[in-house]
Amino acid sequence: MVADIVWNPDEYARNARYVSDLGMPALELLNPRPGERILDLGCGDGELTRVLRERGSEPVGIDSSRELIAAARTLGLDVRKQDACEMEFEDEFDAVFSNAVLHWISETDIVIGNVYRALRRGGRFVGEFGGYGNCAAIVTALVDELELRGIDGSKASPWHFPTADEFSDRLAAAGFSVPYIELIPRPTPLPEGMPGFLATFGGSFAAHVACDQRNGYLSAVCDRLQPLLRSNGEWTADYVRLKFEATKE
Ligand code: BEZ
Repeated sequence: MVADIVWNPDEYARNARYVSDLGMPALELLNPRPGERILDLGCGDGELTRVLRERGSEPVGIDSSRELIAAARTLGLDVRKQDACEMEFEDEFDAVFSNAVLHWISETDIVIGNVYRALRRGGRFVGEFGGYGNCAAIVTALVDELELRGIDGSKASPWHFPTADEFSDRLAAAGFSVPYIELIPRPTPLPEGMPGFLATFGGSFAAHVACDQRNGYLSAVCDRLQPLLRSNGEWTADYVRLKFEATKE
């Protein structure tokens, strides 16, 4: 299942537009060709689905967020509200693309199997998501501030950030060959600072704290991270991405 989060499209565009902007290298690795039918798995507000269409391919986007799908529809895209764990496409896509989504999904093997079934023989599965060590300082601060409040933070993270070996093995077990996979450290400037990042991505942790104490909790996380991730007034997140290309044999 995809983590159960209510996304606010305006807030996402303000605080996290860089997520789709930084997905462009993965889209270039995909190299979409005119006429190709491409599934954009976790299309969000459709920013990269729109680029796939501009490149002449015929993208279909799916996302589990009703709010983000509604935003993507305003771009005139073929997008559907659909959980990646439940999709039933069969032999119908030339490629599946996914940016910044797979770390939100706990049943990785189910999704990989569904992607394999959705692809035609020779089809590509290309994408990028959070890899081992992604935002380690941020996750540690979020968990430690929960523990300080007497809350077990060990299971609060909605994310799984695998190593290249782990993800590659899972792809291979489903029948994919994996010509390329790489873990890439990518320190990422945060346009709206750490408060903006936490407002968008920290909700699953903050949900463990009483409503009237959430602001205090998130400020304490920022204070903890300041010496590590803030320099000259600018915040930079300790992103590590896992970028991959796999082929259905
Ligand atoms: C993201 O979905 O873009 C994301 C999630 C967790 C940490 C960093 C980024």
